[in-house]
Amino acid sequence: MCSGIRRRVYMGIRVTEMVVEKTFLENIISFNIRNAESEDLDSILEIESLSYEHPWSRSLIQGSLDNPKAFNFVAFDRPDRKVQGFILDLLLMDELHILNIAVNPLYRRCGAGSSLLETAVNEGQKLGVKAAFLEVRRSNITALTLYIKHGFKVIGVRRGYYSDNREDALVMKKSL
Ligand SMILES: CC(C)(COP(=O)(O)OP(=O)(O)OC[C@H]1O[C@@H](n2cnc3c(N)ncnc32)[C@H](O)[C@@H]1OP(=O)(O)O)[C@@H](O)C(=O)NCCC(=O)NCCS
Repeated sequence: MCSGIRRRVYMGIRVTEMVVEKTFLENIISFNIRNAESEDLDSILEIESLSYEHPWSRSLIQGSLDNPKAFNFVAFDRPDRKVQGFILDLLLMDELHILNIAVNPLYRRCGAGSSLLETAVNEGQKLGVKAAFLEVRRSNITALTLYIKHGFKVIGVRRGYYSDNREDALVMKKSL
């Protein structure tokens, strides 16, 4: 695959997708997905803190794991079963709301993010979910590219949504 920049426009909103070389790791690593459990808190917290400038707090992640409407999954690598990625979602009626997804930086671009996203969407669909929603920073090109690849479309913008830098959130939806 060649590196480069691709630009698209969704509903009048310009989106930039970055295309970069995949790492060699994708050929030698494979991930399994399972439901997240409360024992995964420390692993999730570690990946969270490696992934964001303003990570979720321990209590926020704990709350997300304990929420009865939670629909959370983790990705673990096959050799040592260590958790290398997670997706935190809510199932609200026939809607799946994706709140957070992150992969250990050392294991990115090996398919874990895709597997987590596909699992949440596919398992949700089995339970009657009709649409999946998420919000993403306008500048998060990596995540935008992942979501677009998996069929999400930009349906709106929340201006100044993120309190740290007043960045816009793009609202994305995938109809199932
Ligand atoms: C977004 C994230 C979860 C993706 O996880 P990942 O395991 O690296 O994703 P995958 O390997 O499954 O990649 C799937 C697709 O996403 C896109 N993608 C992933 N990383 C990319 C990168 N660095 N540049 C461009 N596109 C990228 C590609 O379309 C890729 O498909 P391809 O490899 O066939 O080209 C990961 O980068 C991450 O944890 N980021 C920090 C946390 C974050 O921003 N979360 C999103 C909050 S809204």
